[in-house]
Amino acid sequence: MEIVREISQLRAGLDAARAQGKTIGLVPTMGALHDGHLSLVAKARQECDVVVVSVFVNPTQFNDPKDLQSYPRTEQADCELLQAAGVDFAFVPSVAEMYPEPDTRVFDLGPVAEVMEGAMRPGHFNGVAQVVSKLFAITQPDRAYFGEKDFQQIAVIRRMVELEGFNLEIVPCPIMRHADGLAMSSRNVRLTHEQRAVAPAIHRALAASVEYAKSHTPAETIAHVVDEINSQPFMQVEYYQIVDGKTLQPITAWAETSEPVGCVTVFCGDVRLIDNIKY
Ligand code: PAF
Repeated sequence: MEIVREISQLRAGLDAARAQGKTIGLVPTMGALHDGHLSLVAKARQECDVVVVSVFVNPTQFNDPKDLQSYPRTEQADCELLQAAGVDFAFVPSVAEMYPEPDTRVFDLGPVAEVMEGAMRPGHFNGVAQVVSKLFAITQPDRAYFGEKDFQQIAVIRRMVELEGFNLEIVPCPIMRHADGLAMSSRNVRLTHEQRAVAPAIHRALAASVEYAKSHTPAETIAHVVDEINSQPFMQVEYYQIVDGKTLQPITAWAETSEPVGCVTVFCGDVRLIDNIKY
């Protein structure tokens, strides 16, 4: 595996691979890698000749400077995991390499980016679109892999791909969970022992609500899930919405969509966790 810090060096390596007719798979990450990321890498490894994993904590997608500062950074351990996973290129650029000057681009991401995370974290998805579009332009992958834990992010990236005319396939990958159900996340390491012990209640409430939803409306189901999670110590739901899986717009009746998805954000102490469930 090559650890590459410069865009020109990565381009040269990938141009050479492309010239030999090899397909390229990109897994964009912010590092602090866990088995969720490694499942994306494994899928890319299966489906592509050359696998590139970017490890870059993108400042433009953090609307809270404290969150950016406290985001875990574990570059050496990340590179060891990527090497063991058979990755060809670990792309680990500096902020100056990715943003030699401020990125002032504003993407017209439309309604998918206006709800939920878009409403709670102004500018977040524009920052995601900025960095992911740069990564796509640099690597020109055939496929790019994203985890469904960030369900809305995938819809936003699809929209960005449409706007920018990138010719690639977005590959969504299922949420990876710990044995107790908690969705794997780089933020989980920030939970205290006591918070970590109650955090699986998020997935428990979501999973139980699938049965509940069969005899209740979306609004009743939302209230049920929120009460359930908020009854746990340390836990405060920021939002729970049931939306159409394509448009990400909230539904008021199950018949409005064939793909209802419940998306939740919960503060567990000061750690913001997200998860979702398909109904
Ligand atoms: O999902 C993430 O880790 C980030 O939002 C991404 C896609 C790597 C862009 O920085």
